[in-house]
Amino acid sequence: MKTGDFRSELNERIEYINRAVESFLPEEEGKQSTIFKAVNYSVLNGGKRIRPLLMQSAYILCMGESVRGKSLDEIRELGSYDEGLLLPFVAAIEMIHSSSLVHDDLPCMDNDSLRRGIPSTWAKFGEDMGTLAGDGLMIYAFETALKAAERVKPDDAGRLASVIRAAHILAQKTGIYGMIGGQTVDVELTGKEVSEADLDFIYRLKTGALLEASFMIGAVLAGASDETVKILEQAAGMLGMAFQIRDDILDEISDEKELGKPVHSDERNQKYTYVRYRGLKASEAEVERLTGEARKLIESIGDYPFLVELCDFLISRKS
Ligand code: IPE
Ligand code: IPE
Ligand code: MG
Ligand code: MG
Ligand code: MG
Repeated sequence: MKTGDFRSELNERIEYINRAVESFLPEEEGKQSTIFKAVNYSVLNGGKRIRPLLMQSAYILCMGESVRGKSLDEIRELGSYDEGLLLPFVAAIEMIHSSSLVHDDLPCMDNDSLRRGIPSTWAKFGEDMGTLAGDGLMIYAFETALKAAERVKPDDAGRLASVIRAAHILAQKTGIYGMIGGQTVDVELTGKEVSEADLDFIYRLKTGALLEASFMIGAVLAGASDETVKILEQAAGMLGMAFQIRDDILDEISDEKELGKPVHSDERNQKYTYVRYRGLKASEAEVERLTGEARKLIESIGDYPFLVELCDFLISRKS
């Protein structure tokens, strides 16, 4: 795939995802309109939309070889591309991710007042509303995901089972066994020297878990086998590790304008990151290695140039 082709395909998909996410967000009216405003502010403020992109890509990967070379418009015309099922989950994973950022930025956590180039939610709406917006978004994500069930015909037990399984994955990978579990250990070990095994645990959960959910849900909704779902979970775990290490690298080498969030947040918060552990060069090499391993696993399922390019884009991303 040519670089220009990848970029325009990527932009097209991001716009498609943004439209989908927006379509599920609440109207900003009524007595509790502040929470609606804070929720919308937290989701509609840009972001790379990596998790929705990965979910949709896994779905297309599992639709089969004949689909993978087609453009998004062509894929959308296919009867087997079930937007009614996929888009509620695409929106939900971005809501959950955004909620994790809202909480991560709170003064009691990383105390960062800039996110995606604008004041973080708590800095704009206050700590009380920031906390509620994070909670609200996380729950609203499930309200949204389960809209997929309303769209399944009552006699379609197979599709309904996929929705339930996907919602279960979403809950597990978000909650105490997933992202929140990882953030717990991250916060608890702040300021302490951590072992490589601790670091691995934190990254796999705080960041890896939502990438795993993205790949797994895409595969489950496309009707993939258990074995394929397992392989994609492993691949996403590696991409998640690589993604967090790259995030740590950018925290060291980027600038606030490009990154859209404060740099040197990890140092200020005494976070013992992979970069601090191994240094920049070895960290960059590890990002490449993990991504290469993930690519091999993805390629064992099928040849999908867009997804391979997306993995490579994550290695070299600047924000
Ligand atoms: C930031 O995630 C938090 C991490 C898990 C490293 P992203 O880099 O995907 O943030 P946005 O959504 O693009 O702002
Ligand atoms: C947080 O990691 C990952 C989450 C689960 C939100 P970071 O604290 O490094 O994320 P950023 O750098 O603030 O985006
Ligand atoms: Mg953090
Ligand atoms: Mg942070
Ligand atoms: Mg970071």
